[in-house]
Amino acid sequence: RIESVRLRQILDSRGNTTVEADILTESGGFGRAAAPSGASTGEYEAIELDTSEAIASAREHAVPRLEGAVYVGDQRDVDRTLRAADGTDNFSEIGANSAVAISMAAAKAAADVLGAPLYQHLGGAFRGDNYPIPLGNVIGGGEHAADATAIQEFLSAPVGAPSVQDAVFANAAVHSEVADILAERGVPSAKGDEGAWAPSIDDDDAFEVMDEAVSTVSDEFGFEIRFGLDVAAAEMYDADADEYQYRDRTRSTDEQIEYIADLVDEYDLAYVEDPLDENDYEGFAKLTDKVGEKTLVCGDDLFVTNVERLSEGIEKGAGNSILIKPNQIGTLSDAFDAVELAVENGYDPVISHRSGETEDTTIAHLAVATDAPFIKTGTVGGERTAKLNELIRIEQNVSRL
Ligand code: PGA
Ligand code: ZN
Repeated sequence: RIESVRLRQILDSRGNTTVEADILTESGGFGRAAAPSGASTGEYEAIELDTSEAIASAREHAVPRLEGAVYVGDQRDVDRTLRAADGTDNFSEIGANSAVAISMAAAKAAADVLGAPLYQHLGGAFRGDNYPIPLGNVIGGGEHAADATAIQEFLSAPVGAPSVQDAVFANAAVHSEVADILAERGVPSAKGDEGAWAPSIDDDDAFEVMDEAVSTVSDEFGFEIRFGLDVAAAEMYDADADEYQYRDRTRSTDEQIEYIADLVDEYDLAYVEDPLDENDYEGFAKLTDKVGEKTLVCGDDLFVTNVERLSEGIEKGAGNSILIKPNQIGTLSDAFDAVELAVENGYDPVISHRSGETEDTTIAHLAVATDAPFIKTGTVGGERTAKLNELIRIEQNVSRL
């Protein structure tokens, strides 16, 4: 049983405060986890409260219900208790930041009590033995960097990598190759919030740079590397004008669908996330009809890791993949439910970090535990490599239990 829950404010990678939870069990187990934080958040996400408010409210409402009462090994009970303590359907009382930190810390404490790695506790004996391929953000803009590309993320997708380690190193090589190409073109570049290069170039130029970088690195590494996008189109969409706003032009919804479909063909894109606004199930369905055989059409802001929104998408044929961010929904149980519903319906789950991160590695374990085909967790920078290096360790250790 949980003996104590301690909550504190720590820093995230943007230098903002976030919630960290420590859970101690009566049997001496210990788990620690921290909440990540988004910048291009979806309208339908669970609510992230101001850090100190989230902690105060969780201390008042959730902690007394957990301490001395709930077993960390019963993740469903931990998460039900968090929901009951909150009393709303979007964690607006205790904050999704407090909820997710406690939920993940409980899972880690349970793994500690069992003496098992977290992925094993979460995935169990019948977990498959596939490893998630990391999608690496190497050029980006949108809400993650000022005066850079309109499309939020250009992601290296090392689909032919023989191992996670090769995939991680390939993404880093693509990141480095992009820097070389930008230097050759005389384009200076800072980095955005996730460590991707954030040059002041048009999206057309970014596609050229990506195409060149992945083919160079693919030749060097000897396996197939494609690339993909997180358009984060909800951030570009102007509802009043009913159009998508790029740096140099606008596109109607039909033009946007055509544009993305053409890009999938021209660049053989492996992955397209949030190509349309977060309310546009119909647009997602049309695009999925056109390109769903060739590429993953993934809903992030569209689905927000929420089974109700995913159900609506499944009914309408919107997308064929879902981004899974535990803090979008608030608990690990909810995130697992979203993965399960997705897989049952042929949607590929992609486990994901947020633009604001900490050294917490829970999502690396979550991706392995759920047999997710992909994980999106950046390419460089300590808060990103924390997860990538953990995946490399898991891959090495897993067959030697
Ligand atoms: P966010 O962006 O964490 O800033 O929401 C990541 C994403 O859109 O996938
Ligand atoms: Zn996204």
